[in-house]
Amino acid sequence: MSSADVAVEVFRKLGTDDLRILHIIEAAMGKRAFVPKEQIAKYAKLPMDRVVFTLDRLNKLGLVYSMHGAYVGYTLNYAGYDCLSINAFVKAGLIDAFGQILGVGKEADVYDALTPMGTRIAVKFHRLGRISFRQTRRKRGYAAERASWLFQSRLAAEKEFHAMKLVYAHCVAVPEPLSQNRHAIAMGMIEGAELARWRELPDPAKVLREILGNVKRAYVEARVVHADLSEYNVILNQDMHVLIIDWPQYVVADHPNAQELLRRDVENLLSFFGRRYGLKVNSDEVHAYVAGKCVALAF
Ligand SMILES: Nc1ncnc2c1ncn2[C@@H]1O[C@H](COP(=O)(O)OP(=O)(O)OP(=O)(O)O)[C@@H](O)[C@H]1O
Ligand SMILES: [Mg+2]
Repeated sequence: MSSADVAVEVFRKLGTDDLRILHIIEAAMGKRAFVPKEQIAKYAKLPMDRVVFTLDRLNKLGLVYSMHGAYVGYTLNYAGYDCLSINAFVKAGLIDAFGQILGVGKEADVYDALTPMGTRIAVKFHRLGRISFRQTRRKRGYAAERASWLFQSRLAAEKEFHAMKLVYAHCVAVPEPLSQNRHAIAMGMIEGAELARWRELPDPAKVLREILGNVKRAYVEARVVHADLSEYNVILNQDMHVLIIDWPQYVVADHPNAQELLRRDVENLLSFFGRRYGLKVNSDEVHAYVAGKCVALAF
């Protein structure tokens, strides 16, 4: 079960004390990865037995992790952090219910959710350091590192959301960015599959032109380079239109490596279309096109 599965399942069971204590641990983790029990009780303004009971419950639900060393302390797990962001989306009236998992990656889990109006949306939880996180769970000493992964994941979500808003405003084909909280982004739902999963395309050149048109608009108009573009980060829907996803590693157009990253994005796409569909395209010409140095593609 992924952390978001845990969060989605237990979220509805959480009461005021549970959420209050999760919030307190989160706030105090900025200073100290494992927050002492006494400090939690002090901020919660609750009697110690109630705090201990709640911490025990949160621990059993898999939302916090405890340390019994020089002192007894608690830190948030990803599932606990998930609950805080889900709570924020619910309170903001954005989400009513969670559904299926849409994608599990190395560094993100994507779920579908319903708004109170019944619209399906997607929620992406960033999970940086998930692999080392698993290893450090066994070694209790790495608390600071664990706390910092939550923070890094939040930065990744902020960065991705920012990029999506920039490019969306310039009509680049991306899911509509709806909201961001902590390490989670709520966005429009796409029905479709990654380009890599399509076995045949009626007109591959047309799909490639559409992707490149979007790469150009992102670069020339929004001044954004995706920087991780591949057949896995382009979704193609049933109408044969594309959407570009997964923007946390974007750079701005005047970043020192922007040209190199733009070229790499283009090369990734061209080599995929060459391999799978036998399309032979001149990469210098395509690069000139996406960089805004020529107006049309020659294929
Ligand atoms: N808005 C969306 N609507 C529907 N499905 C989505 C949406 N966004 C992402 N997905 C699904 O979730 C998968 C992972 O999303 P994304 O590429 O943004 O995360 P990731 O960071 O690549 O994860 P990884 O660690 O594997 O790289 C996508 O391949 C896609 O199947
Ligand atoms: Mg991806």
